[in-house]
Amino acid sequence: MADNTKTKTWDATRLPDLTGRTALVTGANSGIGRTAADALARAGAHVVFAVRDPERGLAAAATVHGSTEVRRLDLADLSSVREFADAWQGRPLDLLINNAGVMMLPQQRTADGFEMQFGTNHLGHFALTNLLLPYVTDRVVTLSSGAHRMFDARIRFEDLDFTSGYNPNRAYAQSKLANLLFTLELQRRLAEAGSPVRAMAAHPGYAATNLQSHAGNPVMRGMMKIGNRFFAQDDRAGALPTLYAATQDLPGASYVGPDGRGELRGGPTLVGRSAAASDVAVARRLWTVSEELTGVSWASGAGDRGGARGRMAAER
Ligand SMILES: NC(=O)c1ccc[n+]([C@@H]2O[C@H](COP(=O)([O-])OP(=O)(O)OC[C@H]3O[C@@H](n4cnc5c(N)ncnc54)[C@H](OP(=O)(O)O)[C@@H]3O)[C@@H](O)[C@H]2O)c1
Repeated sequence: MADNTKTKTWDATRLPDLTGRTALVTGANSGIGRTAADALARAGAHVVFAVRDPERGLAAAATVHGSTEVRRLDLADLSSVREFADAWQGRPLDLLINNAGVMMLPQQRTADGFEMQFGTNHLGHFALTNLLLPYVTDRVVTLSSGAHRMFDARIRFEDLDFTSGYNPNRAYAQSKLANLLFTLELQRRLAEAGSPVRAMAAHPGYAATNLQSHAGNPVMRGMMKIGNRFFAQDDRAGALPTLYAATQDLPGASYVGPDGRGELRGGPTLVGRSAAASDVAVARRLWTVSEELTGVSWASGAGDRGGARGRMAAER
């Protein structure tokens, strides 16, 4: 494992040798996902670009130095998630990076009828992770956001899809809070099963990517354009918390973000989370509800096989 004590100077050149490892990055065609995929491939990993548009995925993979492969995955369609997992065919997967995301969109639904941000950012990754977990040997890293503590963030069990009054900011905050609660409960389950696989979360601070361009509210979009220009860090710096969480020796359920003021920019370090994101009872309830909504459960996806495979990897 690389030395993780000097986080202020930590950058992608300090990644360990990942030769022989396989990493899967969702949304690897753009922004932080593309940059993280590039760094992982440069460090020797074989990187699977899991993207909704294979053509754009191929174009992005062509800019990356190293071994890559592009596969279609639409997280907003559970049949696509199942198809993707079925085609995985038992290959060992060292790093699963749940990076893809949408932010503050006008009201939209996934193919299965879920509010788009909750459906894509949380439920899609929930299903993907549980279906692939039997093959994961090392880490699951899930991207959250500082927004997990903004915009009245909470899991609205009574109305997860915002049917009674949609608010794009609140829906984004709910989905990013769900990403953290998912990590908490996943880590608890992995530990209980005796698996050495670790669940981690990361957030990039504020990074200039395509994410901000989808905001439905023109005022918000305008503010973000200005923010991107004057305050944001670039996608290379934004990818560092993901890379740090994926490769450094940290306890399970760690949350990594930038160390600068307001966690907006800076080198990767362990960061805090809101009380709502530490609520074990809510995390458990969200897990159960997510199983019901996706039809994908811990028992069918991970359970014993995940633990056994993880243990085998640790013993190698
Ligand atoms: N940038 C920031 O300041 C910031 C701050 C906090 C958290 N984050 C988080 O960082 C992660 C990466 O975002 P980014 O900033 O790199 O934004 P980005 O450049 O817009 O990248 C998002 C990626 O997600 C993909 N995606 C969206 N919907 C998808 C779906 N249904 N199925 C599969 N892939 C899908 C996008 O694919 P398309 O290209 O096809 O749309 C794109 O590749 C997100 O989870 C975001 O919430 C970012």
